Amino acid sequence: MNFRQSGQVVHWQADAQTQTVSAAKVVSTDPPYYDNIGYADLSDFFYVWLRRSLKPIFPGLYATVAVPKAEELVATPYRHGGKLEAEAFFLDGMTQAMHNLAEQAHPAFPVTIYYAFKQSDTQDDSGTHSTGWVTFLEAVLQAGFALTGTWPMRTELGNRMIGSGTNALASSIVLVCRQRALDAPGMAIFSQYAAVLEADGTPMRVKTALQLINRFLAEDDFDHDTQFCLAWFEHQGWATAKFGEADVLARAKGTSVGGLVEAGVVDSTAGNLRLLRWAELPRDWNPDTDTRTPIWEALHHLIRALNQDGETAAGALLARMPSRTEALRALAYRLYTLCERKGWAEDARAYNELVTAWGAIETEAASAGVVGAQGTFDM
Ligand SMILES: C[S@@+](CC[C@H](N)C(=O)[O-])C[C@H]1O[C@@H](n2cnc3c(N)ncnc32)[C@H](O)[C@@H]1O
Repeated sequence: MNFRQSGQVVHWQADAQTQTVSAAKVVSTDPPYYDNIGYADLSDFFYVWLRRSLKPIFPGLYATVAVPKAEELVATPYRHGGKLEAEAFFLDGMTQAMHNLAEQAHPAFPVTIYYAFKQSDTQDDSGTHSTGWVTFLEAVLQAGFALTGTWPMRTELGNRMIGSGTNALASSIVLVCRQRALDAPGMAIFSQYAAVLEADGTPMRVKTALQLINRFLAEDDFDHDTQFCLAWFEHQGWATAKFGEADVLARAKGTSVGGLVEAGVVDSTAGNLRLLRWAELPRDWNPDTDTRTPIWEALHHLIRALNQDGETAAGALLARMPSRTEALRALAYRLYTLCERKGWAEDARAYNELVTAWGAIETEAASAGVVGAQGTFDM
């Protein structure tokens, strides 16, 4: 690859299902969101005027009298003769488009796909459901992609036009996809998540994937102490570094070194600071009497309990923090993916073990008398 080659901006119109533009390229794409916006219909409003002036300059782009509609990958019932037909059209077309990408994109790099979701669409009585999401993820998996990561991003302005008075998109998720190996061995070891994403994309599995994706919190959804720990861990791991650095980061994250010491997540001595490992945490810790318990601390106590005393002890601990269940699990997943990305295999294993044992720990928590799993965050 020649990195000195200058960038090139090109614009041409091609159907995503058949295009060859992506051949041997690094691909990052922002596909249509199921039925969110009728792009082609909206575009007609401007197209007819723009066409008058720009057709001589871009004859290829303005070849048709109106915007092409037939290939548009949007689930519009009126165009396809009903809701079911529109969903089938979207699924087939998106699968073909994704398959086309999976085949062509440069194999050394993942394909990143921006996908947005309506907040209020992500939950229904049975847990999590969003027609757009389910259909889209099915298409991605059926196309031969494996999902190797998800990153939440705040990409949309809360006050943008379509956001006013509607439940329109609040944030996006970047899906990191790689072509799935035919034998699909251990793409990732992340418990159910890996199982979901390595498999063939049956509806049940996609739904489970959605539940996990929706549980993935953005960094600033965590408490301030946890935000500090996350950022510090990403840069320093468990190593010791200068107090001054920690002080600056703590302020930036809305906390203080004194507060972090009080919380019991760091050791700060002789002008240095480091995060405490789970093995260093006190075995007699009691969440009921600890007045400052960041999610970070609670999570590492759970790992300590699991490793030192087993699932029953971890379940008993979780039972005393019912409102934190979702945040704990989300942080464990986040730390697992972080460690995997950094190549910190031993740490990745500790977080993965917790998530793998999660079902059993919750069962233990229930039999220890958990008040009831809460879906909301108590932060
Ligand atoms: C979410 S929007 C992308 C918005 C863009 N990132 C931006 O900021 O302006 C999805 C786009 O996919 C286009 N699209 C829909 N069906 C397509 C198809 N079959 N082939 C290529 N593009 C298509 C839509 O016209 C729309 O412009």
